[in-house]
Amino acid sequence: YFDNGNQIFADARANHYAVGAYNINNLEWTRAILQAANETRTPVLVQVSMGAAKYMGGFKFVRDMVADQIDAMGITVPVVLNLDHGDFAAAMECIDLGYSSVMYDGHKLPLATNYDQTAQIVQAAHQRGISVEAEIGKVGENQDTNSGELASVADAKKFAELGVDKLACGIGNIHGIYPADWRGLDFDRLAAIADAVDIPLVLHGGSGIPKDQVQRAIALGIAKVNINTEFQLAFQAATRDYIEQARDLDQAQKGYDPRKLLLPGTEAITAKMKEIIDWLGTPAVA
Ligand code: G3H
Ligand code: ZN
Repeated sequence: YFDNGNQIFADARANHYAVGAYNINNLEWTRAILQAANETRTPVLVQVSMGAAKYMGGFKFVRDMVADQIDAMGITVPVVLNLDHGDFAAAMECIDLGYSSVMYDGHKLPLATNYDQTAQIVQAAHQRGISVEAEIGKVGENQDTNSGELASVADAKKFAELGVDKLACGIGNIHGIYPADWRGLDFDRLAAIADAVDIPLVLHGGSGIPKDQVQRAIALGIAKVNINTEFQLAFQAATRDYIEQARDLDQAQKGYDPRKLLLPGTEAITAKMKEIIDWLGTPAVA
C-alpha cells in the first residue's frame, strides 16, 4: 500500500520542488487529503502524530484506516505513511506495523542520545525498507516569540552520514500560528546546511509561512513541507460557516447529520491542499 518516499523526495530535492506532508486527525482529514492527491495526480505523504494516533485509537488503526481508504477511494497515486514527531517507542511500533516512513524526533534529548537513538531507528527501519526522518535544532513551538533553535551544519553532516533519509532542521520555523513579530526563515543557515548535505531537507511548521519564503526554501533544498494547522483553520472556518448558514435547514434537510455537517470542512481541506500543491510545485506522476 505504502511507498517509502525515498525516490519521491530525492527527485523533489534534485528538481527543486517539494512534496507536502499532511497531518491527519480523523477519517475526514484522511479522505480529504487522499482526494486532493488523487485529483491532482500528485504523490502524497500522509502523516500522524503520536497525539492524533492516540486520539484515533492507535497506530494500527491509523495504518488500517489509511490503507482501507486507499482501496475504497481507488487512490492510484503513491502514498507514503509517516509517523510524525515520534519518540523511540512509537517509531519502533510503526516500523513493526509497516508504516513506510517514520520521523524519530530526539531533538529534545542531549545530542549524543538523539544521535544514538536515531542510529538504532535507522538500522531497524532500513532492514525493512522503511524511510527515516530525524530532527536537529529545534522547531519553535506554537506562539513562541523566539524561533526555536537553528540546526548546526556540523550536526546536519553527522546525521546525514548516519544514513537518515530526510532531515528536519530548525531554521527559524515554528509549529502552529506564527507570531506577528516572527523574524522569518534563516535562509543563510538553510543554504549552509543544504550545501553540506544532499539528502532531502524538511520544513516543519509549514502553515502560515508566506509563499515567497516557502518557495525560496524549496529552491535551496527543502523537499518536504509539513502542513497541519492550515487544514485545521480551513476546516474550522468552513464548518463555522455551514453551521451559521444552515441552521434554519436543520429540520427540513437534516443539516445536523454528521455526514452533511462535516462535508464543507472536508471539502475545504481538499481545496486548501490543492492550493498548497501549487505553491510547492509538486508535479503530477508520470
Ligand atoms: O509536523 C508537523 C508540522 O510541522 C506541521 O506544522 O501545524 O505549523 O503546519 P503546522
Ligand atoms: Zn513538525
